[in-house]
Amino acid sequence: MRRGLAGVVRGPDNTRQQPAGGVAGADTPAVGTSEGWPGAVPDERTRQWHSAHVENAGFYTIRAPDRAYFLARLRSPVVAAIAALGRAHGRPLTILEVGCGSGADSVCLALQGHDVTTIDPSEHLLARARGLADVAAALFPARPLRLRVERGNVFDLPGAAGRYDVVLSFGVVVLWREEERRLRALANLRATLNPGGWLVLGTTNTTHPLFKLLPLIPLVADLADHNLAIMEGEVRQAGFAVVDRGAVGLSEHFDQWLANRLARFPLRLADRVFARLPAGWQLPVAPHVFVVARASGGGRRDGAGFG
Ligand SMILES: C[S@@+](CC[C@H](N)C(=O)[O-])C[C@H]1O[C@@H](n2cnc3c(N)ncnc32)[C@H](O)[C@@H]1O
Repeated sequence: MRRGLAGVVRGPDNTRQQPAGGVAGADTPAVGTSEGWPGAVPDERTRQWHSAHVENAGFYTIRAPDRAYFLARLRSPVVAAIAALGRAHGRPLTILEVGCGSGADSVCLALQGHDVTTIDPSEHLLARARGLADVAAALFPARPLRLRVERGNVFDLPGAAGRYDVVLSFGVVVLWREEERRLRALANLRATLNPGGWLVLGTTNTTHPLFKLLPLIPLVADLADHNLAIMEGEVRQAGFAVVDRGAVGLSEHFDQWLANRLARFPLRLADRVFARLPAGWQLPVAPHVFVVARASGGGRRDGAGFG
């Protein structure tokens, strides 16, 4: 039986409920939700988004990951930023990833020797993350992975309070169009950190006009209007000081959706051009951006009540 971070399941009103399948125990039936989602997810729209764009569309399948795939992903900006935090601390970090999707970042962070817990509310995606971890373990037997892949939800993280050096969440807060929900998610992410812990938060630059032209329009149209400036404002409101920012190209997040190597070529080409832009130009035009932020002393901590 797999156990999520939460020992108990709480409803939207934070009352204790019957455990739902996957959060407290995979072999207990889900309570009041559609199959595959924990009772603690109060967000029907997010569930619909996933059903339409992820689970039925077959996104988030990394095709035939080999050593080259992992070695390239280990050099990706997000993984590299967390590697730099590890070097600054001089020890492996305890890391929580919230909303891991296919699990690529978490698996790479575990390959670097960090102690990683990664959660997602979708069993469908967790299965992919576990599969990817198995492939990595087979390809890199000399690097034993300390990685837990568990079911969980950003609005219900009580077992995680104050435990992590780093909390990573990429492409998750942008799912909620309401600022209040994004701020609540951020407060909950903050509450998982130990004093002085780090948030690495990524979003999709959905306000960029070029982004709206991509053939992924239905998927993008369902997201909040978000970008670096909006995200930084929200991160500060949640009690973090932003210390760094980074841009992520097209291939890192979209390659995995394309079965055909030829179809990936234009993405790689665009990224080569992108990589040649001066750093200051990359951030405004990047499809994905992220910040590295540190929990500051005097900020709000009202997320400690967890949704
Ligand atoms: C756009 S995907 C990003 C996945 C991955 N982080 C990446 O960058 O490729 C959004 C992820 O958020 C997860 N998610 C949706 N609702 C969530 C919630 N309430 N708490 C945590 N994760 C959630 C989804 O299942 C999905 O894996």
